Amino acid sequence: MNMDIVLGLQWGDEGKGKFIDLISEDYDITARFNGGSNAGHSIERNGKKITLKMIPSGIFMKEVQNVIGTGTVLDPVSFKKEILNVKQFDETLQPEKNLIISKKAHFVLPTYKLLDVFMEESPAYTTIGTTKNGIAQAYSNKILRQNVRIGDMYSPDFKERVERILERDYQFLTDAGMELPSLESICEEFFDAVEFLKQFDCTETELFLNKALKNKQTVLAEGSQAALLDIDHGTYPYVTSSSTTASGACSGLGISPKKIGEIFGIAKAYCTRVGNGIFPTELFDELGDEIRIKGNEFGSNTGRPRRTGWLDLPALRYAVMINGVTQLVLTKADVLSGLKSVAVCTHYEWADGTIETNAGTLPENAQPIFKWLAGWEADFSVIKDASALPDALKDFLSFLETELEIPVGYLSTGPGREQILKMK
Ligand code: GDP
Ligand code: IMO
Ligand code: MG
Repeated sequence: MNMDIVLGLQWGDEGKGKFIDLISEDYDITARFNGGSNAGHSIERNGKKITLKMIPSGIFMKEVQNVIGTGTVLDPVSFKKEILNVKQFDETLQPEKNLIISKKAHFVLPTYKLLDVFMEESPAYTTIGTTKNGIAQAYSNKILRQNVRIGDMYSPDFKERVERILERDYQFLTDAGMELPSLESICEEFFDAVEFLKQFDCTETELFLNKALKNKQTVLAEGSQAALLDIDHGTYPYVTSSSTTASGACSGLGISPKKIGEIFGIAKAYCTRVGNGIFPTELFDELGDEIRIKGNEFGSNTGRPRRTGWLDLPALRYAVMINGVTQLVLTKADVLSGLKSVAVCTHYEWADGTIETNAGTLPENAQPIFKWLAGWEADFSVIKDASALPDALKDFLSFLETELEIPVGYLSTGPGREQILKMK
């Protein structure tokens, strides 16, 4: 059996959570492979909305086994709150029965979050506009080989090792003049959350997943963040600190690239970005505000207003290329409904006339060149069949298929679980 993957192709928040919640019913296992509580994957069920940060989006399917994989970083304090929140959302859920965690995933320690805040605010560092979840600090300590992993919580010297790191960071932040809660209260909250974590099966998830595939079970890998936020291929330094791509799914879960099946790439019909960094197709006018309001473009994780702009095909071609996307899942075309025409950036052009049609590191000094396409108007809440879509939207989808050389497999028509059309 193969593992399928769901990935964001832009700067995050493309609608991955909604899509995974829906298709996870066709899989035996859903596995998160990167990132941590910086993700915000919104799911709407029975008119109620919940945002998942660390928990895989298959959690509402009781028969689906959910995995927090090795490539992730886990903050036990945030995780505990999230589990309690999920249980409140649906009292019949028992996540401790269908969620397992990799022993090799790394901890996010409480001082990492404080350091994230400090670095964002200090003039000595570049301000990235992070979610302040301590993500970069956890991954950098992992690379430095100074961090603690989930499996370490069973070791007799775990407390001592954690305290050493906390004391080191606490001293640094105190010396830097940051106002902090007491170290005792930080430790107490952390170790209490670690005890809570121990009710979950923390195991060798690589062995679990590979065995499952061998036994013909189906696995869906859930990406968080997105291609343009990838640590290697994104718009560095304004990126996250993990591998958000298809190859990141392989390394983050310990699955061979030979075992990959479908790669679903999720993109909005326009672009959004939260945090700093280049965004060549950004709209600064009333239309940009209109899209923000109509699309409810406010960060699922931090509540920050998302920057909005037109679809960027050079960036999307790049994301499709590096991930080997096999089908596109287009979301939020309903948000553009009612516009007379919509723009798409087809390429970038420099002053000397040279052009770029495929660009992950978006050019600072080139002009985005737009093509205007006819807009569409429809009541998307009643469209249950692709044939009922307005002709202009059908043309838009065909245009994307030609430009990206992949099929549009699904069209999402609203935030609700059932608001999706299978196109192929
Ligand atoms: P994720 O991080 O990729 O899971 O995306 P988020 O949940 O952060 O942001 C996507 C937002 O758009 C959520 O509020 C979803 O409920 C909503 N959404 C998803 N698909 C659609 C769609 O097709 N149309 C509209 N209007 N909203 C959508
Ligand atoms: P999902 O999974 C959108 C952005 C932050 C910031 C940069 C680095 O919901 O799509 P970090 O906290 O990771 O160190 O922040 O990355 N960012 C996201 N933007 N959606 C996300 O996740 C994001 N996760 C991180 O805004 O610009
Ligand atoms: Mg999100």
